[in-house]
Amino acid sequence: MSEEKERYVINGGNPLVGEVEIGGAKNAALAIVAASIMTDETVSIENMPDVRDTNVMLEAMQSIGVNVDRIDRHTVKINGSMVKNVNIDTESIRKIRASYYLMGALLGKYKRAEVPLPGGCDIGSRPIDQHVKGFRALGATVSIEGGIVKASAEKLVGAHIYMDVVTVGATINIMMAASMAEGKTIIENAAKEPHVVDVANFLNSMGANVKGAGTDIIRISGVSKLKKCTYSVIPDQIEAGTFMYAAAVTKGDVLIKNVIPKHLESISAKLIEIGCQIQEFDDAVRVAATKRLRPTQIKTLPYPGYPTDMQPQAGVALALSDGVSTITESIFENRFKYIDELVSMGANVRVEGNTAFIEGVEGFSGAHIKAPDLRAGAALVIAGLAAEGCTVIDDIYYIQRGYEDFDIKLRKLGARIEVEKISEKVTKANFKAIS
Ligand code: EPZ
Repeated sequence: MSEEKERYVINGGNPLVGEVEIGGAKNAALAIVAASIMTDETVSIENMPDVRDTNVMLEAMQSIGVNVDRIDRHTVKINGSMVKNVNIDTESIRKIRASYYLMGALLGKYKRAEVPLPGGCDIGSRPIDQHVKGFRALGATVSIEGGIVKASAEKLVGAHIYMDVVTVGATINIMMAASMAEGKTIIENAAKEPHVVDVANFLNSMGANVKGAGTDIIRISGVSKLKKCTYSVIPDQIEAGTFMYAAAVTKGDVLIKNVIPKHLESISAKLIEIGCQIQEFDDAVRVAATKRLRPTQIKTLPYPGYPTDMQPQAGVALALSDGVSTITESIFENRFKYIDELVSMGANVRVEGNTAFIEGVEGFSGAHIKAPDLRAGAALVIAGLAAEGCTVIDDIYYIQRGYEDFDIKLRKLGARIEVEKISEKVTKANFKAIS
């Protein structure tokens, strides 16, 4: 028995130059495909990213009878009229965080859902108490039994819900369920991320009545039926931001196309602060860096603050800057796992609690490292691109969860990055250990 894994082999040291096209936002798409089962009519979704997490989500939906028709690589038609049960449990769905969106969608439409507790990257404790609180406020009974979240209701009734923490997932989930509840729901202290707005726009295109998404109060008037629509997913803010940092760290000059510059403002502002030149166009940003980057302070915050999903990329840039920086991670407690890998490349960083103290070094040297999670993995690729010599990155399946054709896009910008297949012979003796 053999299992094939992949890794990146990077020969760093050259600047990235050229143009790159950004795909649809993974975290918006995940919620949108789940929400599309709330109508019996066929929904057409364009600008779908072709990444592992969205593909797992679509497969899981097929397993409960949803018809998924791939028109081309980035267009999918979804028909949820044939959903045969509301109990979803595939092995793969347990691995992705966004499985929780099926709770809101199934509960809204069928008033019943059974979905495994969400998985996803190990970036800290990831409770779902706010999702549960919201569903209960709408009248559902929710229990967690044997790792399965079970929610059911005679009917859902609109409610006034105050979120204890700003959470993207719970805001979207409650918005979905409330769209098909009776009466009015108000979500206070709602998350304002671009993908919250995108999901609200999608629900409205299906005939829902959601107002205020993008502010911290969202008002939803429930409707009894949703209908077909054609919808295009917004560009991925984090993929764009990752390429912005790749340009900065390699002292390159990259035009990042198909973006919404407004969504990138907190990232652009930091890059300007550390010495990059940023030019904004209607649907593109250009990032150029010529000199050694400057140090700064960063604290991750909900939108419009600096995104936690862009924290590791910033860590890599600041580790090469000319001075001392700090990064405070205030959203997830376990998002500094890339630091050990970076230190093995020559970085000088110390983590205490939720703060990284970074003393910039002049350069990294190539090393054999591994991707600890999705964004950290992408950040380490950037580190490898800037490093002298060869960097090998294992466990790139994390990166493939959220970046489409990452190596291909980077190669077009001049990066020397290859995917290497490693065939691991799995013997009876070691099969147990790796399964
Ligand atoms: C979403 O995760 C994204 N995932 C994450 O992207 C992203 O890092 C995160 O939002 C923050 O922007 C998806 O969209 C699939 P949260 P989510 O609920 O919804 C606490 C990536 O790399 N909280 O906004 O899980 C929580 O512990 C990933 O693409 C509760 O306390 O994040 C955290 O501290 C990784 N109770 C904070 O809220 C809850 O019920 C924000 O979490 C829910 C969350």
